[in-house]
Amino acid sequence: MSLPWEQRFSKRAQHVKGSAVRELLKITEQPEFISFGGGLPAPDVFPVDAVARAAEHVLSTNAAYALQYSTTEGYRPLRRWIAEKLSRDNLALSEENILITSGSQQALDLIGKLLIDPDDQVVVESPTYLATLQCWRTYGARFLECPADDDGFITGALPSLLVSNPKLMYSVPNFQNPRGVTLSLPRRRDLVSLLREFDVPLIEDDPYGELRFEGQHLPSLMAIDGSRRAHKVYNGLVIGLGSFSKVLAPGLRVGWVAAAPSVIEKLVLVKQGTDLHTATFNQMIVHHLAESGIMESHRRLIIEAYRARRDVMLEALAREMPQGVTWTRPQGGMFLWVTLPSDVDAADVLPLALERKVAFVCGAPFHAGGGGKNTMRLNFSNATFDKIREGIHRLGEAVRLVLASHPAAAA
Ligand SMILES: Cc1ncc(COP(=O)(O)O)c(C=O)c1O
Repeated sequence: MSLPWEQRFSKRAQHVKGSAVRELLKITEQPEFISFGGGLPAPDVFPVDAVARAAEHVLSTNAAYALQYSTTEGYRPLRRWIAEKLSRDNLALSEENILITSGSQQALDLIGKLLIDPDDQVVVESPTYLATLQCWRTYGARFLECPADDDGFITGALPSLLVSNPKLMYSVPNFQNPRGVTLSLPRRRDLVSLLREFDVPLIEDDPYGELRFEGQHLPSLMAIDGSRRAHKVYNGLVIGLGSFSKVLAPGLRVGWVAAAPSVIEKLVLVKQGTDLHTATFNQMIVHHLAESGIMESHRRLIIEAYRARRDVMLEALAREMPQGVTWTRPQGGMFLWVTLPSDVDAADVLPLALERKVAFVCGAPFHAGGGGKNTMRLNFSNATFDKIREGIHRLGEAVRLVLASHPAAAA
């Protein structure tokens, strides 16, 4: 007789639900599928040769260090490099402010372990990054949703949420996953003022900020907070998360947390129980690519590639989508967000799209408290130009069919 494992799972594990994105990725792995579903970088621009040369360099210069157990905080030269890079816009960071993590997803989990008790309230923009909702639900978080528009969080709506004393806030300020929108500078300033007024910490999750195609660099929330503080080493309310997944490759699994030293010290202890440390070999490869300037030239190449793909998708949407359908125009990143007429459900479009071998992710799961049924997320970074054109053509067909069968459309 086999053990009824479900009865043995912890209460925490019972909160863990499958992700719509992961499930979809399994279906769309078939080669004839055109997928706008996952959040995948383009494999054709992975820096394969550069990574191979960096790996060789690391092994030939310091193999004993690269292959040995190491400190949980991370490879010191990489921490220093990140601290220096983030020390702009009047922000002063040192390596004490930096912990290297196995991707920023691990950082989200470690922060959940560190800060969230069951029933703690967390303010998120609506919609927000699905994997954060899933991860923090495991720790018992309850989400308070703040509405957002094309300039990000509507900060005017925040005071009424912040009076209920939430444990923390969460934001993806640049080219947000899922909507592709960016928090405007006036709203950044408002948001930081509110954090300080209500004494609420904020997690600034920024894996896409380096992928700006157009428009001006905006200071991070941490930089705005830091520039108003007297401390030499940053000791403020913002915990910043970053990642090399989008500028190099997600398979390296190297990201970081930037925060007040007291937060970093405790996160180090939490991470010890999780994986001891992030792969030193990978950290050294990343450091070599960063320090030598190879990463910066690669970043420019990716920006050009993704800008062109975004443009092809925007043109195709304008050509193929029926009236009443709108979409965001991201200035960077990897996603855009399509809104169907308010009484149309994207879940009705999905089966017709899958029949036509094109995939997208429905927008509803990105809303912590439900809603957003008439929305969908499209990834534009992964497919080639021809596939984007063909995929949007097929998707347009599926949307038209649903609209045609719709009572409002038929009336
Ligand atoms: C907003 C956001 N945060 C975090 C992550 C996790 O990235 P990684 O763990 O690869 O650094 C992603 C990945 O898509 C993301 O979109």
